[in-house]
Amino acid sequence: MIRRPFGTTGVDVPVIGQGTWKLRNARSAERALRLGVELGLTHIDTAELYTGAEEILAPLLRDHRAKLFVVSKVLPEHATRGGIQKACEQSLKRLGTDHLDAYLLHWLTEEVELGEAIGALEALVEQGKTRFIGVSNFEPHELDEARRLATRHPIACNQVLYHLGDRGIESALLPRCDEAGVAVVGYSPFGDGEFPPGRPAARRALTDIAERHGRTARQVALNFLTRHRATFAIPKAETEAHVRDNAAALDFTLDDAALAELDRAFPPPPAGEPLGTL
Ligand SMILES: NC(=O)c1ccc[n+]([C@@H]2O[C@H](COP(=O)([O-])OP(=O)(O)OC[C@H]3O[C@@H](n4cnc5c(N)ncnc54)[C@H](OP(=O)(O)O)[C@@H]3O)[C@@H](O)[C@H]2O)c1
Repeated sequence: MIRRPFGTTGVDVPVIGQGTWKLRNARSAERALRLGVELGLTHIDTAELYTGAEEILAPLLRDHRAKLFVVSKVLPEHATRGGIQKACEQSLKRLGTDHLDAYLLHWLTEEVELGEAIGALEALVEQGKTRFIGVSNFEPHELDEARRLATRHPIACNQVLYHLGDRGIESALLPRCDEAGVAVVGYSPFGDGEFPPGRPAARRALTDIAERHGRTARQVALNFLTRHRATFAIPKAETEAHVRDNAAALDFTLDDAALAELDRAFPPPPAGEPLGTL
């Protein structure tokens, strides 16, 4: 699996990782996650919100902690100084590890005092409880504010919705992150509905490209969504065949004609639209 620099952290992280939201079955999920790690998908995304997921990950961390890049997230309702400290300690306990690789504020609400939240995340770095800090679902101006407030440790990443049916991050957020050295981690790369998304003609275009490259449509989607140097993708798969499929998504190159066809079939929205969230 190809790795690339994760923002300005100095750490190279696998471009395709593994999500853990809505895992259906602890056994099959653990098997699939283990296979993913064997195949190089060592970037693991979880959150306190994903009930049961951190516990499911614990045996994987017990056996492979050193090779994993583990990311967890704190809910906005816990985003006070004391709340973040406690939420992180609880995540560490459920995961059975003494540190995270990155700890993110899951999303921003009006109730969150961002300066206090960023200060609390920074304090966790100083305590060795997380190596890096980040945010999720932040609009460009919110990211600017978070970066301004993060005076002791930089914002390493912004985890955002990014799939063929929602390319909203490409107009402003992605260039801003790239310029600032903030990794863009695309979640729900297969969208929140039917895959592939879009009209029949768009779906046909994707299928044709996949057939021409001897790949699956999902591999083409992952390949396309990680074509920019600042991007990562974290598909969730608890079916072993799906994990294998995702792990091979970057073993080929989409030529210029395919990239142009995908652009036509799944056009980005006009600049200035707010980012989507699930
Ligand atoms: N920061 C945030 O606010 C936020 C929000 C949403 C998600 N996330 C993170 O992003 C991760 C991924 O997003 P998601 O879980 O919403 O959805 P997703 O990864 O876009 O899609 C997951 C679905 O796709 C299927 N799938 C995966 N690989 C496949 C393949 N190669 N072929 C066919 N089907 C395949 C999975 O099936 P099986 O499970 O049966 O394999 C599952 O039903 C989450 O798990 C979570 O870690 C973050």
